[in-house]
Amino acid sequence: MNGETRREAAQEARAAMHDAAEVAGFAIRAARSPGELAECARMMAGSEPWLTLQRSPGVCLQLCSNPTKEVYLAAAGARILGFLILDLTGPFPGYLQTVCVAPEARGRGVGSQLIGFAEQRIFRDSPNVFLCVSSFNAAARRLYQRLGYETVGVLKGYLVAEHDEILLRKSLGAWRGFRGGAAAAKLEPPAAER
Ligand SMILES: CC(C)(COP(=O)(O)OP(=O)(O)OC[C@H]1O[C@@H](n2cnc3c(N)ncnc32)[C@H](O)[C@@H]1OP(=O)(O)O)[C@@H](O)C(=O)NCCC(=O)NCCS
Repeated sequence: MNGETRREAAQEARAAMHDAAEVAGFAIRAARSPGELAECARMMAGSEPWLTLQRSPGVCLQLCSNPTKEVYLAAAGARILGFLILDLTGPFPGYLQTVCVAPEARGRGVGSQLIGFAEQRIFRDSPNVFLCVSSFNAAARRLYQRLGYETVGVLKGYLVAEHDEILLRKSLGAWRGFRGGAAAAKLEPPAAER
């Protein structure tokens, strides 16, 4: 290795360590501003599976800005490493609608920690986490399987005709007997479960 190559290698190693430190130092918190939501929408619109699913930047912004959802960020300072959109409403509450990690931050545990956070948040209010994963999204399907998600059904040609959405569920058990966290006192089984 000549001097130039060694310098480059050292620089790359320093950059990787800096990156890893930032990833190790991230915090998960609620999104605070329209600017943050717009950045999440841009991340989503530029990434698979949403490119194949033909989710336009405008639709991604609508999904991220919907005030009935909860949006959480994995943030290292001002840098957004990834985000979650959760839906705690409707007949099957506890839907993990979107999880996305910036391409350069993937494969370092950020996604697993975001999903762990989503589960803690949802299990305060509901004994079920639901999510959909596209049939072609092999890496995400592997991750969900490792995290204990079970296939509930297949929504054939649901978002685009060429691909299916696979509905997954992770459950603490039945609604009857469920004692959630802060919201336990006001818990009623949703209409679909009564
Ligand atoms: C799916 C997604 C959210 C996962 O996020 P992530 O940060 O890459 O996830 P993790 O790092 O926790 O785990 C993914 C992989 O990294 C590995 N990993 C986990 N922690 C790690 C760590 N600390 N160091 C190195 N590797 C690690 C995992 O074993 C896993 O490996 P595998 O996929 O080869 O089996 C992310 O890849 C993403 O945003 N993809 C595009 C959008 C998408 O598909 N979203 C899901 C839609 S349903």
